[in-house]
Amino acid sequence: MSFFKVEHLTMKFGGLVAVSDFSLTAKEGDLIGLIGPNGAGKTTAFNMITGRLLPTEGKIYFRGKDITGTQSHIINAGGIARTFQNIRLFNDLTVLENAMIGYHGRLRSSFWEAIFRLPRYKSEEKKMRSMARELLAEVQLDNVANEKAGTLAYGQQRKLEIARALATNPRLLLLDEPVAGMNPRETGNMMDFINSIREAYALAIILIEHDMRFVMGLCEHLIVLDHGVTIATGNPAEIQNNPQVIEAYLGEPEGA
Ligand SMILES: Nc1ncnc2c1ncn2[C@@H]1O[C@H](COP(=O)(O)OP(=O)(O)OP(=O)(O)O)[C@@H](O)[C@H]1O
Ligand SMILES: [Mg+2]
Repeated sequence: MSFFKVEHLTMKFGGLVAVSDFSLTAKEGDLIGLIGPNGAGKTTAFNMITGRLLPTEGKIYFRGKDITGTQSHIINAGGIARTFQNIRLFNDLTVLENAMIGYHGRLRSSFWEAIFRLPRYKSEEKKMRSMARELLAEVQLDNVANEKAGTLAYGQQRKLEIARALATNPRLLLLDEPVAGMNPRETGNMMDFINSIREAYALAIILIEHDMRFVMGLCEHLIVLDHGVTIATGNPAEIQNNPQVIEAYLGEPEGA
């Protein structure tokens, strides 16, 4: 039984084939990079894997189960978490409250127990709060636990988003451009951070990123998409020397 397997995924939007015949296999603990020029279909691949888009064709298997077409919150509860290309935090909630949201999918209380704050919910909430505090300490955000998320530095917001994903107890974490907009120092910190959570949480990670130094420094295996098509797979050295990959990047229109 393979840990994670995607077979022949295709996503069509009307006449546009955003992703074509995309396949991928990951073992537990793998760190895989998904790269390619703008509009290559990278985020679309994540959206299919996480149940936000129903693939036009193809299958997704996770820990021996076919999860194709499963609702995204069920996929998340089953062990796949993600972050988004544009940070999605509740800016007016505190860092702690944002982290606690990650635990909500793991609550056993019913909706009504939560609404009326019945005893089971109250005790679960207390537990959630203490788990969120622990998590924030682990990712070194405990010093800002009571700040509004929107006031954090950019790098810390990205970290908080990852922390919230970790709160859902994933085995597979998908990161969509975790260092976009970061300066070199923040990027270096994020690289260390990803390595540390990979180890601490025994995660497999698939990440999308345009920053080549970051990708090449972190990932063991790379998949290159261009116009929805997988044009290369291999280790960083193989990818860097692949003429088709170089062409895909250099052939990009100006300003893209
Ligand atoms: N919901 C949608 N409806 C229609 N077209 C879409 C939709 N989502 C994505 N697309 C199109 O599919 C193609 C792939 O988009 P996608 O966002 O997956 O690219 P990407 O590789 O993540 O690019 P970037 O690096 O710029 O984030 C693009 O042409 C995009 O406009
Ligand atoms: Mg994208």
